Amino acid sequence: MAGNTFGEIFRITTFGESHGKAIGVVIDGVIPNIDIDLNFVQSELNRRKPGQSSITTPRKEEDRVEILSGVFEGKTTGAPICLVIWNKDQNPKIYEQYKNIFRPGHAGYTFLNKYGIYDYYGGGRASGRETAARVAAGAIAKTILKNYNIEIIGYTRKVGNIEINEIDYNEIEKNDIRCPDKIVAKKMIDLISEVKSKGDSIGGVVEIVIKNCPIGLGDPVFDKLHADFAKALISIGAVKGFEIGAGFKFSEKKASEIIDEFYFDQKQSRIRTKTNNQGGILGGISNGEDIVMRIAVKSPSSILIEKDTVRYDNTPTKIKIEGRHDPCLCPRIIPVAESMIALVLLDKLLIQNMIKKTPTIGKLREQIDLIDKNILILIAERQKLVKEIGKEKIKNNIKILDRKRELDALSDRKKLARRLKLDTNIIEKLFKLLFKISKIEQEKIKVDK
Ligand SMILES: Cc1cc2nc3c(=O)[nH]c(=O)nc-3n(C[C@H](O)[C@H](O)[C@H](O)COP(=O)(O)O)c2cc1C
Repeated sequence: MAGNTFGEIFRITTFGESHGKAIGVVIDGVIPNIDIDLNFVQSELNRRKPGQSSITTPRKEEDRVEILSGVFEGKTTGAPICLVIWNKDQNPKIYEQYKNIFRPGHAGYTFLNKYGIYDYYGGGRASGRETAARVAAGAIAKTILKNYNIEIIGYTRKVGNIEINEIDYNEIEKNDIRCPDKIVAKKMIDLISEVKSKGDSIGGVVEIVIKNCPIGLGDPVFDKLHADFAKALISIGAVKGFEIGAGFKFSEKKASEIIDEFYFDQKQSRIRTKTNNQGGILGGISNGEDIVMRIAVKSPSSILIEKDTVRYDNTPTKIKIEGRHDPCLCPRIIPVAESMIALVLLDKLLIQNMIKKTPTIGKLREQIDLIDKNILILIAERQKLVKEIGKEKIKNNIKILDRKRELDALSDRKKLARRLKLDTNIIEKLFKLLFKISKIEQEKIKVDK
C-alpha cells in the first residue's frame, strides 16, 4: 500500500488501524530547538476525538498522545518525532456482522479489489481514526508556524441547507458544531439532532481561512499553493469537494463582476486587492490576502437506515449500520483540515527556505549583544575622531559649537532613519545626545590645555 507519507521536507508518515493497537505518525524534516508543548498537541487531539458532544459519535477514545522520539528536555532535537496514540475503546465484535458484506459508501469494495485483503474492523486504514495521527503532526507544524504569526481558522459554514450569515471567530469553539454564527449554530445542531434521531446523517461545508500568510508561497506550475491545499484536504476521508475564493461562483460571473482590482494600501505600504475572489492566491502563489478555502463534507455512510448491498460472494443483501457513528462530520473534520493546511504551509516555507531554523530567545539575545558591542566600538571610534577635530578647532581658534553643521548633520541622519523605517524622533534624541557628548569631549581638551 503506497501513499502513507505526505510532504516534501516536513514529511509525515502515518501508521496504524482503527481497531489495531495504536495509530501514530513519524515526522521527518523537523527543525531542531523548537519548544514542544505536549498539552497543546493533546488539546488539538481533543478537538478531533470522538465523544465530544451529542452530535459526534459516542465512541469514547481518550486519544492520549505519547512522544516516543525526537524530543529532548521539551525541545525538538531535529531527529524524527514519533507520536503514538493507543487505541482503547475498540469494539471489534460490532463489525463481525459485516464481515463478508460490502458497506455502501465505505472503502471495503475498492480495498478488497485492489489488495485482496480488507481489515473490516472499522475500516482499517480507511477509518476516520487515521486522521488523529494527522492532527498530532499538525499540532507540531502549528507550533512552528506560531513563530511566524500565521493563523489557520476552520469552521462549519453550512450543514444541509443551513448556512452562516455572519462570522465571529470567537464563537467557533463555543458551540458543538464549531460555527462562527451563534444563532445559525443552534439551527445546525437542531437539524443534526433531528437527522440523527431518524438514524440518518447529514453533510456540510467547512471553511478554512489562513491569516498573515506571507506573499510568495507556492510555485506556478504543478506545485501551485492551492493545488497542494486541495490535495491535502481532499485526502481526508469523506471530503468530496474543494473550492478556493469565489470557487465555483467564477463559472457564473463576468470578469468585470468578479475581478479583484489592485490598489496601493498606504497604511501597510503594499499593493492589495479591493476584493478577495481569488481567495489569497494568484497564479499558484500567495498574494498576502487571507487565503479562503471551502470543502464539501459528505454525510457519513454508516446509518441505521436499511440499504441494498452485496456480499463478498456477489449475493444481494440488505444492510443497516449499527454502531457508534458521527451524524455529521464537520466539527471533527475541522481540526483535521487545519492540521493538513499547517503541514502544507510549513513544508512550503521550508521549501522556499523562509524558515532556516527557529531562533531561540537566547540566540536572539546573543545577536543583540553582539550588535550592542559593535555600537560601543563605533562610539569609541567616533570619540577618537571628535578629539582630533577638537584639537584642530582649538589650534585654529574655531568655536567648539558649530550650530549649522550640527543641524545639517541631524537632518541627514533623520533622512537616513526615515529610509530605514526607524522612528525619527528617537533617532533625533539619540544623535543630539551623541553631539552633546562630542561637545563635552572637545570642551575637556580646551580645559586640559
Ligand atoms: C474524523 C472522521 C470521522 C469519520 N467517522 C465516520 C463515521 O462515524 N461513519 C462513517 O460512515 N464514516 C466516517 N468517516 C468517513 C469515512 O472514513 C469515509 O467516508 C470512508 O472511508 C470512505 O471514504 P470516502 O468517503 O473518502 O470515499 C469519518 C471520517 C473522518 C475524517
